[in-house]
Amino acid sequence: MKTYLSTTFLLFLALLLARCTTTPVSEEVAVVPPTGVIADEAMVVSAHPLASEVGAEILKQGGNAVDAAIAVQFALAVVYPAAGNIGGGGFMVIREAEGLTNTLDYREKAPLAATRDMYLDENDEVIKGASRLGHLASGVPGSVDGMVKAHERYGSLPWETLVQPSVDLAADGFVLTEREARGLNRSKEVFQEANTQNPEFLLNESEWQAGDTIYMPELAATMERVRDEGRAGFYEGETAELLVAEMERGGGIMTMDDLAQYESKFREPIVTEYDGMRFISMPPPSSGGIALAQLLQSIEDFPLDEMGHNSAATAHAMAEAERRVYADRATYLGDADFYPVPVFELLDPEYNQARMGNFDEATATPSAMISEGNPAPAEAMETTHFSIIDKDRNAVSVTTTLNGGYGSKVVVGGAGFLLNNEMDDFSIKPGFPNMFGLVGGEANAIQPEKRMLSSMTPTIVEKNDSLYMVVGTPGGSTIITSVYQTILNVVEHGMGMQEAVTAGRFHHQWKPDTIFAEPTAFSIDVAQKLKDMGHHIVERSSIGRVDAILVLSDGKLEGGADPRGDDTAVGY
Ligand code: GLY
Repeated sequence: MKTYLSTTFLLFLALLLARCTTTPVSEEVAVVPPTGVIADEAMVVSAHPLASEVGAEILKQGGNAVDAAIAVQFALAVVYPAAGNIGGGGFMVIREAEGLTNTLDYREKAPLAATRDMYLDENDEVIKGASRLGHLASGVPGSVDGMVKAHERYGSLPWETLVQPSVDLAADGFVLTEREARGLNRSKEVFQEANTQNPEFLLNESEWQAGDTIYMPELAATMERVRDEGRAGFYEGETAELLVAEMERGGGIMTMDDLAQYESKFREPIVTEYDGMRFISMPPPSSGGIALAQLLQSIEDFPLDEMGHNSAATAHAMAEAERRVYADRATYLGDADFYPVPVFELLDPEYNQARMGNFDEATATPSAMISEGNPAPAEAMETTHFSIIDKDRNAVSVTTTLNGGYGSKVVVGGAGFLLNNEMDDFSIKPGFPNMFGLVGGEANAIQPEKRMLSSMTPTIVEKNDSLYMVVGTPGGSTIITSVYQTILNVVEHGMGMQEAVTAGRFHHQWKPDTIFAEPTAFSIDVAQKLKDMGHHIVERSSIGRVDAILVLSDGKLEGGADPRGDDTAVGY
């Protein structure tokens, strides 16, 4: 049966219901969001309807989940320039139908000329904005190499078939959504500030409106080179020369050698068990897989299902776990190719349960009293995620990023793509917060060719040895806790996929000592109870944009497309 469905109406309804049935901090709430898109065979959930359609079309042509992921990665680089990219990087978690798992790290690397103190002035003070805006903020992009590697190992359709949709979208133009029009208008001045040549295709003399068509001819030509030459179409020849010329014009440090030497890597996943399920996620240079495992281990003994979804008791226990895990993150996590990350020790359930040993069910523990644990025996905001399951039940979970919205804001002149500002994910000075307020030290200090620590947490969950859920989100430091909550919403609180994605979220990251909460996360009563325990609560309009797929008990797929964005599930 062909049931090709769009979620736009359902998502609108979900938001409406969430708004109508929840009154933030004013009364006890009961949110009953609708079920997400249901599909019999295969599904793509991504941040943009056109990208989801591109992925679903590849699946219908007989492509597998990795084929679809490659096409979606490139389509998002066109239709979702705030975070979709070829000038950034990302992580892919793969589970083949028969259960084999793998991860692909196509995270950006520090350029060869990068130095530990490159963002400090002569007084050792941080140079404002230097790691975030402009040419010096970019790491060496990994997305094209990552897609080539993924295709070499897993692809089934021809490479050209997977790249062509992005060429067409860029050349033929596509219609802006209201959210994108707003994003581009908001960024107009920084685009002008960061660029040596105005990126005309992103600028509109008046204002962009929803429904306007945007054309990207230079990006179309770049994608044609990628289509025809593969890796060489980006890391060598015309594209590479344009990128290096852009760096030279703007005072950046990336060279042809950086591009020639960049390599993405397959890595062993982080695997942890919780309540009989297996969680397969991303190892360093992401902190996501380790932190998610630590969070799950920290609360495994708490009866969250009885304590209730987003009750004061549940939020208190989860926030206390988050406080402790983020303190570990700041000290121990970095690129394991450069720093001895104590992975085994951090994943020890006894260690994580012991970290909760001073948990007080009535009182918040001030972050000033929490430092990193001793796990060894002796020892932004824009990113995007997509989830895919194909008809054979191969599954792919991809989170990809330019770091901040539109990355460094620098468009490579003549090549039409935005570059990342991922260097800000390094600890540019010990204890100095990055754009997400995260702090770090030695483990995540800048070194040439090192990958900056990430929070991206693309994850696949198995139940009874079978595929159960594909999940992930953007959101900088809140990525880990958004994935954590979405998973718990399903496995502890019995929600369906869409309901779990729509539900209000909260987040604690050790420093600042604050629970950030969406307006729909807590009732007034719960918020007051948390304050009485000593928690400091700050409202945030939106946390994360989770795109996920759940395998239902009848074998069908339920998409959870986040109503916080234009996210769309397309299945058949
Ligand atoms: N740039 C966001 C992250 O990787 O965590």
